Amino acid sequence: MPYTVPKLTDYSAAALEKAAGECIAACAGEAAEVHSDAELKAFRDRWMARKNGILTQINDLWLKGAPKEAKREAGIRVNELKARITELVESAHIGGGNSDSLAADRVDITLPGVKRPIGAEHPVIKTMHEIVGVFQKLGYSVAEGPVVETDYYNFEALNFPPNHPARDTQDTLFIAGQQSKPQRERLLLRTHTSPVQIRTMEKMRPPLRIVIPGTVHRNDPPDASHSPMFHQIEGLAVDTNITFGDLKGTLDHAMKALFGSSVKTHFRPSFFPFTEPSAELYVTCFICGGSGKRGADPCRPCKQTGWIEVLGCGMVDPNVFEFVKDNGYDPRKVSGFAFGMGVDRLALLKYGVDDIQLFFQGDVRFLQQFG
Ligand code: DAH
Repeated sequence: MPYTVPKLTDYSAAALEKAAGECIAACAGEAAEVHSDAELKAFRDRWMARKNGILTQINDLWLKGAPKEAKREAGIRVNELKARITELVESAHIGGGNSDSLAADRVDITLPGVKRPIGAEHPVIKTMHEIVGVFQKLGYSVAEGPVVETDYYNFEALNFPPNHPARDTQDTLFIAGQQSKPQRERLLLRTHTSPVQIRTMEKMRPPLRIVIPGTVHRNDPPDASHSPMFHQIEGLAVDTNITFGDLKGTLDHAMKALFGSSVKTHFRPSFFPFTEPSAELYVTCFICGGSGKRGADPCRPCKQTGWIEVLGCGMVDPNVFEFVKDNGYDPRKVSGFAFGMGVDRLALLKYGVDDIQLFFQGDVRFLQQFG
């Protein structure tokens, strides 16, 4: 006989207990007999339907029908019962009754758990943090700027005049649909972190010591040593009486802190529009120690020269200060030095990786090795 809700005449605790027990047993029994979607739905409706479901009937018959003095006790009982029935109905599932599926629900705490591998810092980011850390110890702070930049910050204010051939050295990715704007407002993907020099000098008055880590983009087809997206760290120090000697001393110290105290540094003249004079900094090859050889073989990373180029640098060109003169950067009163390095290239050399693409493919077998 299917369960029907009995009318109650006796509202004593014992009678309520008995009636509730029978109801729960009936519900559990029916839950065990559910074998299909249709049966599950019918079961749920029978017990829970707002209109004439069993719970609704109980409410009507046991609660509303209770004499005044028994109402409170009956209310508590019926609420407990409702909670229990709701639980049973909600956890009911197809084949709910057979013991196999009950066993499947049980957790076997003797089984090994699900392993969640701990992530590791990406080698490029790790190298970036190391470099930034060296300069932070020297009192530098960290500045950042946008990756989508205007022509003004990326070129013009860095002393690359419109149409100047120096712009061709940085194969630029331009944002489409900018032709109607004046040239200095046109958007592009920044080709270097140098625009943040200007952005920071606009906001902060001298003296200034900052490093600027970030991603940059160039229209270079990907190969073992090129990637259209890569990372740079820029540095800028401005104060009264900053000299090329400060630049050499600072960078020599930084290279020793990064690559070991036996590393030697070497500056060669170069050209950048935003520094004058400009230089490239070389360090003794940390693979071959400067000999150009690895045993009997030629050393590849330094192309047998014993020297590796690590960055571009120079004294801030007075023309650059002119763009931020109003914020205290009068070129007759302040001087400064700047430098910029490619982090990915340094990470390649540091870890002896021979293909920059490996840094960006997200292959866990590669990345795991840096954990
Ligand atoms: N921005 C230059 C580049 O991407 C690198 C550079 C050279 C930055 C000299 C500097 C600097 O700050 O002084 O090629």
